[in-house]
Formats: sequence, structure tokens, C-alpha cells
Amino acid sequence: MVQEAEAMDALGALLPEIKTAVPGEACARLIDTLAATECPALTMRRARRAERSGAQQDPIVWTAARGANVLDADANRYVDLSAGFGAASIGHGHPRVVHALRQQAGRLLHALGDLQPADVKVQLLQRLAQLAPFPDARVMLGLSGADAVEAALKTALLKTGKPGVIAFEGGYHGLHHGPLAACGYNAAFREPFAAQLNPHVRFVRYPDTHERGAQTLAAVEDAIFSMEVGVGAVLVEPVLGRGGVVVPPDGFLRELSALCRRRGVLLIADEIMTGLLRTGSLFSSVTEGAEPDLICLGKALGGGLPVSACLGKAEVMQAWGDPGNEALHTATFFGHPLGAVAALATLDVLQAENLGTRALSLGEHLRSRLTELRAEHTLITDVRGKGLLIGVEVASGALGLGLGRDLLARGFITVPAGADARVISLTPPLTITQRQLDAFADALGAALEACA
Ligand SMILES: Cc1ncc(COP(=O)(O)O)c(C=O)c1O
Repeated sequence: MVQEAEAMDALGALLPEIKTAVPGEACARLIDTLAATECPALTMRRARRAERSGAQQDPIVWTAARGANVLDADANRYVDLSAGFGAASIGHGHPRVVHALRQQAGRLLHALGDLQPADVKVQLLQRLAQLAPFPDARVMLGLSGADAVEAALKTALLKTGKPGVIAFEGGYHGLHHGPLAACGYNAAFREPFAAQLNPHVRFVRYPDTHERGAQTLAAVEDAIFSMEVGVGAVLVEPVLGRGGVVVPPDGFLRELSALCRRRGVLLIADEIMTGLLRTGSLFSSVTEGAEPDLICLGKALGGGLPVSACLGKAEVMQAWGDPGNEALHTATFFGHPLGAVAALATLDVLQAENLGTRALSLGEHLRSRLTELRAEHTLITDVRGKGLLIGVEVASGALGLGLGRDLLARGFITVPAGADARVISLTPPLTITQRQLDAFADALGAALEACA
């Protein structure tokens, strides 16, 4: 036990140590159990990936994580370039979050949601309202990113009375029915459920150049005029994340925001991936000159626990009116005390440790290392991103998956992005060290050599 605790304490800024095949035997046993028990919706995907990449795609199974390090069931040590889908922005198992959770667990594990809230839920609401980039903000809490987007979409409908939504090809906002209708990432996600989804969604292209930015703005304007039901909201990611890490051209978000204002359409900024310092500032859209009416936060907010929030201008949130005796939008675990203290501790850490500046400087360093690799390897077709949200695009989806696999065997955890998986997305903890990032760039170089 003492040895295990010491090993855990040492984790965080270490380089990988791989002692077995990846996955090793203990992981493989757990994956067999997973395959025998998990809904095929999740498990079959690995078989398809294996087919496409020509390599086995069984995952490792995590047993512990601290900072930027992860241990698997075979005691192999990895560097996590995913931060668990961007959730561990302050590093896995940050001591301040763990301490807050321990204290809270001994005090109050669960309260009565919207009927009789926990004290710490009230504190979190106040903290988030203060954080919002507009005065007098109102906040709705949730557990997942999808919850926050659902809350924003409902709010926009109540405020405008218009069910139309403009969303982006490649956009990803979670898979509850509300956000799923606006999921441009992959039509195959929507199609089986189309009969139950909002039919009034128009998808426009997410722009990556000035010229395309102008075309997209024209397409948005056209949709606003041509959708007969009326358009209540434009839902946008300030940088397209899961869709392939696409950074829009300068000025696009500002102009989109101005267009929405002119036409009386609400702008919902989905900052679930980009916000809370990953791209350098609390709200990436605001830094780019947009003035969103509603902002969705999730992922990093809970420091590893499921917490999300929809922040709205008071005049917009007022649209919920007086719902009488019943809360119109609630859930048993919204504002859960453990999530609330984890989020409060996370916000403290994000501010105290100056992680925005770190995200920008480490992001620049990593991008320059990757750009050097691009000059040497034609298999890399693009390197892009903002802060520590970076995408490495390679020549094909099969290559992207193969490289991800090779990187895992070398001790680096990455996540594929883009509908055809040709982008290796990098969203490491903002606390990751430059040494760990350099080791990753070296490993990617070696993996590319191996496939040349
Ligand atoms: C931009 C964005 N919005 C929303 C979501 C959905 O969040 P969740 O998976 O917590 O529902 C994600 C998840 O990847 C995301 O990247």
C-alpha cells in the first residue's frame, strides 16, 4: 500500500514506461469482459476501426491517473495527450480537487436539487455568474456537455419562439436528442433517431479560410431568411474540436455574432472544449470579439467530475418566466454537491496556476515542433490549433488510426478526430510539461519513420 501511494505521488510529469505488449494481458482480459457485456453500439466500433487501419484496436484499461500520467491494468505508464477528452485540463486527480471531494464526501453527498439545494451548489452558481462575460448572468447547471447545450437550445426557443437552429458541418455538441439534432459531425449519428429530432436544423460549412468565412456568413443569412419556421439560434464551436480541430479565420466569430444581433437570432457559443483556458482564455469566442447570448461549459469545469453549465444573459434566461410549482428543466443530480466542490476547486486552480498563459506558450511550442515534423514528413498534411487544442492532420484516416495505435504502444494517449479519423487531436492537461510534449513529438517522428 505504501509503495503504491509513493508510486502514485511520483506520477504527473513522468515520461512513459511500457513494460508489456499494448494492451497487455490484464487489459486484454478486461476488454474481453467489456466486449461480452457492453452494448455493441460501443464495442463493435473497435472491430470497424481494426478493419480500416489494418491493426488491432483494442484499448488499454485505465487504473490510475495523476497530472499528465495514466497507468493501465498492466502497470504501463503513459503520457495523456487527451486529458480524458479535455476534461482533465488541470491534470488528472489534482490535489485540490481530491481534497475538496474528500471533505465534501464527509459532509454532504447529495441534496434535494432544485427543491432544497446544497450550499456548495449555490456557491458554484454565484462563482459561474461572476465568471460570465456579461453582467447579471444566470446559470443552469448540468452533468454533461450535452446537458448544457440542451439547456441553451431550450432557452433559445423560449426566448425567440423560433425552433430553427443553424449549426455547422463537423460540429459536435453531445448526443442527447436536443444537441444530436444539431450534430454535424457525422450524419450516421442522427439518422437512426431522425424521427425524434428537431427537423428545423440547417447545417452550414465550418470555415477555415477568409473566403469560406464570407461564404458561410452568406449561408447563415440565407438560412435566417429562408427557414419558414424562423431561426432562433446559431450554435457554434469557437474552434471545431471533434470535427477535426478547425480554427475559423480571424474575424469570423465576431462577424457571425454581429449578424446574429442584426437579425435577432441568439448566438450559442459551445465552449465545452475551447473554454476555461484550453485555448488561452476563459471564453474563446469572446476573445475573438463575439458576444454570445448563451455559453456552454463542460469537460474541464468539473476537474474530472461530470459538471456542466449554461451561462446566459439575464434578459435571455428570463424567458423561462415563472414556471409555477414545477421546475421546467431539472434532474436529480444537477448541482450535485461533489460536482459543485470539484468545480469550485477547479476554477480556483485554473486562476491560481496561470494556466491560460501556459496553454498559449506550450501550445506554440508543440505546434512549432509538429510543424518541423511536417516539413520532414509528407504524411503530415496540416498542423493547426489554438493554445493546447491542436490537430495533426495526416494523409488518410487509416494512417491516423495506425499512428494513434503506434503512439499508444510508445506510451502516448491521443484521440482521433474528424469524421474519417485523419486528424490526431491533442488536448493534453494544461499542466503537462514541455519535456513530456517534446517526448511526444519525438515519438510521433519515430512513428512516422516507421510507416515511411
Ligand atoms: C464542443 C463539444 N460540445 C459538447 C460536447 C458533449 O459533451 P459530453 O460528451 O459531456 O456530453 C463535446 C464532447 O466532446 C464537445 O467537444
